[in-house]
Amino acid sequence: MEVQFPENFWWGSAASGPQTEGRIAGDGKGENIFDYWYSKEPEKFFDQVGPDQASEVYQKYKEDVQLMVQTGHNSFRTSIQWSRLIPDGVGAINPQAVAFYNHYFDELINNGIEPFVNLYHFDMPMGLQAKGGWLNRETVDAYVEYAKTCFALFGDKVKKWFTHNEPIVPVEAGYLYQLHYPEESNLAHAVQVGFHEALASALAIKAYRESGHSGEIGIILNLTPSYPRDSNNPEDVCAAKIADAFFNRSFLDPAVKGTFPEELVKILKELSIVPKMQENDLAVIQNNTIDLLGINYYQPRRIKAKESAVDQNAAPMPEDYFDIYDMPGKKMNPYRGWEIYEKGIYDILSNVRDNYGNLPCFISENGMGVENESRFLGEDGMIHDDYRIEFVRDHLRYVHQAIQEGANCLGYHMWTCMDNWSWTNAYKNRYGFISVDLENNRKRTIKKSGYWFKQVSEKNGF
Ligand code: BG6
Repeated sequence: MEVQFPENFWWGSAASGPQTEGRIAGDGKGENIFDYWYSKEPEKFFDQVGPDQASEVYQKYKEDVQLMVQTGHNSFRTSIQWSRLIPDGVGAINPQAVAFYNHYFDELINNGIEPFVNLYHFDMPMGLQAKGGWLNRETVDAYVEYAKTCFALFGDKVKKWFTHNEPIVPVEAGYLYQLHYPEESNLAHAVQVGFHEALASALAIKAYRESGHSGEIGIILNLTPSYPRDSNNPEDVCAAKIADAFFNRSFLDPAVKGTFPEELVKILKELSIVPKMQENDLAVIQNNTIDLLGINYYQPRRIKAKESAVDQNAAPMPEDYFDIYDMPGKKMNPYRGWEIYEKGIYDILSNVRDNYGNLPCFISENGMGVENESRFLGEDGMIHDDYRIEFVRDHLRYVHQAIQEGANCLGYHMWTCMDNWSWTNAYKNRYGFISVDLENNRKRTIKKSGYWFKQVSEKNGF
């Protein structure tokens, strides 16, 4: 075999509650920011498809778990929806949610698939958002109570927990680039949101350890390696370091080392936007670092030194310190507009090995969203997504190389198991090993990549 992975490697995929479960009348779920935003501005969502119309995992989870078996999963990540379990964000627990998650996790376990459970995937309960969401310190307390509730309810069966998925996304999308509700552009707010997320993560880790459960707890970060335009040009290199501090190390350093990057702290001090914090907060972050790191990798960041003047009258933004470099000849996923750079996954794993104590980690998301995949439907009724097979294989080669060179990478999860609802992109780009037919009662059909993945998982390589 060309590429053989270590024994007990985790093969599977990732999804999230808000992107898959859907809502049915009487399920007791409360509103989160996406439910609310869609109810107010449906035109902001591709084809006006909202989160209520996700892939109906709430009803179809048993069938879905069988499909996971048929596509070689030994592990699978989803998230608990805070607004399903605790509809107002604080207070009463929804008993139907408790029953659903118990059944779902049991179904996975009984079929030999380990559930990896994330607590937060961009889905702030609206009751808390109305009071400021992550901007408000009360949300940190509410999150910790929610986390404790999850550990108490499901901690005996779930042994891999994650405090956040991509905590930089609420910062960027909600408070810098106006891509998600509340569509702000305010660096001081973004910094406060990020700090509260990092603090909430550390407090949840503390609570988990105090709960006496025997599993592991970590965080899932989307790491976008920042490559300078010219690695021999010190100004490009410096700009890339700053971009890295803003978008990667802002969460990676506190999660793994318990500290924030000096370059970032210096900038925040200069701008007088150091987040508000209480006396003990930094010690809490210092003392409660993760057991396990999930790495989501889709694309690199290409950076060059700032070429245009910064408007001193405009509000500060990270891009005041670097420019995005549009590298000629880069390989693109045209549907998503993201560069495909397979070696990036190797560079991240090498960085974690060399600079982050080689802590246990895994690839928690990697994948390729493609529009109009029905073009590739064969007469056999299956989508022939050879491009996805190629994408995964090419990345896996680099994961394997990194492992050969000592990286402590324990698994590979694809984004995603079955086509799902993707925030404002809704069902535009399909990512799954399994297609979901929106016209036909959300019928699931395994794609060619799903059968391929099953073989890879069985052979533990290819
Ligand atoms: C990751 C998220 O950023 O990428 C997922 O964890 C998301 O929630 C996925 O769906 C793909 O991105 P997008 O924007 O194409 O849905």
